[in-house]
Amino acid sequence: MTLIENAVAAYTRQYGNAPTTAALAPGRVEIMGNHTDYNGGFVLPAALDKATVLVGAATGTDTIKIYAADFRREATFSATELQRDPHNSWASYLLGVVDQLQQLGIKIGGFQAVIHSDVPGGAGLSSSAALEVATAFFLKQLFSFDLGPMEIARLCQKAENEFVGVPCGILDQFSSVFGIQDGLMFLDCLTLEHSAVQMGRDDIALVICDSNVKHAHAGGDYTTRRAECMAAAAYFGKQLLREVTWEEFEAGKSGLPENQRKRAEHVLTEDQRVLAMREAAKEGDTAQMGRLLAEGHASCRDSFENTSPEIDLLVALASQIPGCIGAKMTGGGWGGCTINLVYADAVPEFCQALAASYKEHTGNNASVYACRAAQGARAIPI
Ligand code: GLA
Repeated sequence: MTLIENAVAAYTRQYGNAPTTAALAPGRVEIMGNHTDYNGGFVLPAALDKATVLVGAATGTDTIKIYAADFRREATFSATELQRDPHNSWASYLLGVVDQLQQLGIKIGGFQAVIHSDVPGGAGLSSSAALEVATAFFLKQLFSFDLGPMEIARLCQKAENEFVGVPCGILDQFSSVFGIQDGLMFLDCLTLEHSAVQMGRDDIALVICDSNVKHAHAGGDYTTRRAECMAAAAYFGKQLLREVTWEEFEAGKSGLPENQRKRAEHVLTEDQRVLAMREAAKEGDTAQMGRLLAEGHASCRDSFENTSPEIDLLVALASQIPGCIGAKMTGGGWGGCTINLVYADAVPEFCQALAASYKEHTGNNASVYACRAAQGARAIPI
């Protein structure tokens, strides 16, 4: 059964009738552009063939009922007085979107919905953005409002910033909305100009490796990194690091505190790596792609300091396995997943070898699996 079919079956069990409306939004991996988004920089992500779906119907009441099929919990809210529920914090990603739409003056009435997802939660693959974006595409059908794709991506980011309270950039929501089948996307986070990037060869697979280790302070560390970047930009008299040139940085960096210097160095070099990676991907230049992935990871590890021992180990082990083009961390950091570009015909052996070698070194089980780059969010006819 597909995700949608499962969700429809769960809805019918839960609410006794059939849903009218369905929407799907994918998770993402960031191939290059780590912590560049909120600095106004460049990103190069792919949406994944792992997604969150919402199915449901308007009820003509003022009550919102959401059933999370994956952990069998239902939560109920008033559509006219949105309140966070600390016992059901998962619902805040959905409510945050309702809240943003209402702030725009769009009337969102009562509805019932089932959420179902195969995006691994808390793994750095943007399960939160997938839920926000699926919610927006679902509500757009139920309450027909006129927002374009970039407006939806920004609205979902705002929902996460303001209602959930996570100061993320736009990378995740952009990726979930704009994903393209078997391709990457490029976004300039300052101008919001974006384009599809087709890989110059079709024998490259995306392999995700989840260390299955979560680090407790990741949220707080994200906020600290963001503040360090903003402080470094302010030192140069700029609002965003994107506006600082490499020459300005080189000339002034000795006056920066060490932590800010390292964060800024990562962000400025990472922006260059995104541009280089975009070209290498288009040309199918796997040697260059491998070099850039290795440099990107080293910059996260040594300058941005947002990796973890397990992630560093996974990247080091992956790069010794035949068929691996390159590997790096992906997402916010301090745990989560690595992204590995692997020649398609080597994928089964690569996955097996990486899991075995990680187990041998740590005694822990990593989850290693191939993904495809997938189309972005959409309404699904049911
Ligand atoms: C998280 C955030 C994104 C982005 C990445 C790092 O996924 O939600 O906005 O900052 O980390 O690139």
